[in-house]
Amino acid sequence: DEAITVANLAKQMGVKATEIIKKLLLLGLPANINQAIDFDAAALVASEFGYEVEKAGFEEEDILQATEDKPEDLQPRPPVVTVMGHVDHGKTSLLDAIRHTNVIDGEAGGITQHIGAYFVEMDGGRITFLDTPGHEAFTAMRARGAKVTDLVILVVAADDGVMQQTIEAINHSKAAQVPIMVAINKIDKPNANVDRVKRELAEHGLIPEEWGGDTTMVEISAKKRMGIEELMEMVLLQAELLELKANPNKPARGRVIEAKLDKGRGPVATVLVQEGTLREGDVYVCGTYFGRVRSLFDDKGRRISEAGPSVPVEVLGLSGVPNAGDDFIVLADEKQAKQVAEHRQMKHREKELSRSTKVTLERLYEQI
Ligand code: GTP
Ligand code: MG
Repeated sequence: DEAITVANLAKQMGVKATEIIKKLLLLGLPANINQAIDFDAAALVASEFGYEVEKAGFEEEDILQATEDKPEDLQPRPPVVTVMGHVDHGKTSLLDAIRHTNVIDGEAGGITQHIGAYFVEMDGGRITFLDTPGHEAFTAMRARGAKVTDLVILVVAADDGVMQQTIEAINHSKAAQVPIMVAINKIDKPNANVDRVKRELAEHGLIPEEWGGDTTMVEISAKKRMGIEELMEMVLLQAELLELKANPNKPARGRVIEAKLDKGRGPVATVLVQEGTLREGDVYVCGTYFGRVRSLFDDKGRRISEAGPSVPVEVLGLSGVPNAGDDFIVLADEKQAKQVAEHRQMKHREKELSRSTKVTLERLYEQI
């Protein structure tokens, strides 16, 4: 019933057709490049190359399909906030200031480990901040259809005003339909001009509330730690209006915020859990990789055994380094995870291959 040509099988596995023909001949099967071979033969040959063949029509959704949550299973979750803005307008300084006002933790001056995300607990509630330098990460996420941010804090320096990356950030947020809140920073500077910033923002569609618009704008100085608490109150207020909820009582699903290869620890990914609860030992598929979670660490570098919705967590035990924006899905068993990951690897190779084919063709034309 299901058949594949030698040429196509070769292409999907990224091996030479002649290699496959050789194997087929050894198995005593008829073989030429356009020969259609059945599923069993294809599986047999593929296994010789270390591949597993799936029946056509494999849809990862069959395995990964998310279950609908009942309203009573949903619980409030903290907002996920991304800080954006033009270079040098004070994004990092703001995050520093915020972490120092972290009343529960209160580890002022402590060692801050950069994991690309911070979880802040205040009197009024909890907030997750994503510290993604540049807007590339944001763009990469969107390109993958990943929506991780509930709210954007747009930092605009009062002495510099709206600049190119400010406008980019506004456009990104609008396209992703993420509400924007503005932090007008550096108001301690003698040449700060808050009204000018507001006028410029209004030109780009962000009208301050006091002018009858709906954009919250808070004047702050990240350096002098002025207005930070007011800004946090506004974030929590806005989050309340968004009624953010998730079901913590199911296998976790999340997104990779960033990932790297750590010399001592191997591949390490910062994952934002979006629903469910992630635990040590969980079987996952992440991008084209699969495996079992070896250990979890929080944003302060402390080992934890589980992480619920909106919690950013460092995951160890990955079989490779995934990309920012890749999904992270916990599955019931390793066999399923392997099947999904291998299917993705195959798709990935196909894409790579068609790309390299195109390149060679282009080269060919150049030579003619
Ligand atoms: P990039 O990550 O390079 O895009 O910059 P950033 O937006 O993270 O800015 P950063 O926090 O690194 O601040 C840039 C410079 O502005 C630093 O020298 C800060 O000390 C200074 N700065 C930040 N906030 C304030 C502020 O409120 N007042 C004053 N006077 N200086 C500030
Ligand atoms: Mg910075």
